[in-house]
Amino acid sequence: MAVTPDHRGIAPVRAGLAVLPTPLQEAPRLAEALGVSGPLLLKRDDLTGFAVAGNKARQLEMLVADASASGADVLVTGGTPGSNFCQAAVAAAAWAGMRCVLVYAGSPPPARHPNHAAAVHWGADVRWTYDADRGSVDAAIEATAAELTREGLQPYAVPRGGATPVGSAGFHLAALELGAQLRDRFDGSATVVVGAGSGGTLAGLVSGAVALGRRLRMRGAAVSRPPEETAGRVLKLGRECALLMGTEPPREADVVVYDARGPGHGHPSEEGERAARLALRASGIVLDPVYSAKALGALARILGDRRADPGHTTVFWHTGGLLDAVAGWSHDDR
Ligand SMILES: Cc1ncc(COP(=O)(O)O)c(C=O)c1O
Repeated sequence: MAVTPDHRGIAPVRAGLAVLPTPLQEAPRLAEALGVSGPLLLKRDDLTGFAVAGNKARQLEMLVADASASGADVLVTGGTPGSNFCQAAVAAAAWAGMRCVLVYAGSPPPARHPNHAAAVHWGADVRWTYDADRGSVDAAIEATAAELTREGLQPYAVPRGGATPVGSAGFHLAALELGAQLRDRFDGSATVVVGAGSGGTLAGLVSGAVALGRRLRMRGAAVSRPPEETAGRVLKLGRECALLMGTEPPREADVVVYDARGPGHGHPSEEGERAARLALRASGIVLDPVYSAKALGALARILGDRRADPGHTTVFWHTGGLLDAVAGWSHDDR
């Protein structure tokens, strides 16, 4: 669904995939290990309760509802064999009674990765762009959708990572969910740290934070694109999401993104791996090397002076990526 001013305030509906709210858990031992003086809370979107979708269940429950409402019978999306989103999209399409076509960058055979294995097991029809550039997937998704339309099907095309205003609306609502949980337990203000790839997650969170009156400071840890590019995408998408939700659009200053790429997308960073070991030992939390470990690794840098403020609340948004955590190693194909 393309968002135009006509959509102002037409908030999309949820398909009901995720079990919400996800827990907000205190992590005092992890706070101590990371040198954070105030309360550190974990927003457990690794526990969304749908397949192994993690945070992606929030986007997909909006996208699948929109697809069903438009009469679609096949979801078309793409990425790489290691993509969490692709794997989760196949599960969501199956749940909604739709077929799912995945378009991967590159050429077969696919890299061995549990996300790919799950996607195929759950019924994905896989196609290839025969171009190693991940950007080649964007046009290929559109071309595949057009081809399926010619075959008489009703495709619903979703860009990489589910980064659309409708998908981000799931995270706008997630920010409101966190706001309510914090009001119950703390004074309602906090710095929130989250990994950013395609930017759809952060865009929705920023849109929701603005709607809440900017008491939540959303901070992105860019793991894929350079931080400036990520911030530009997040601002555009966040504004389109706010338009859809009928709320105040984010300003440039609302989008703050730090560099957490390390050696590059899909390659673990030392900072991230250290953080992942601490998280497991201090809180029993499993982080994946591609997104959440790098985001937690950047948390101290992101907090800056606030790390020493015992009155400041920090939330680390655990986005899941559990099959990526199992894979563990770097993969050049991403
Ligand atoms: C585990 C995990 N965390 C964070 C993200 C980042 O989300 P986004 O692509 O919406 O920026 C992803 C995206 O695939 C992910 O799989």
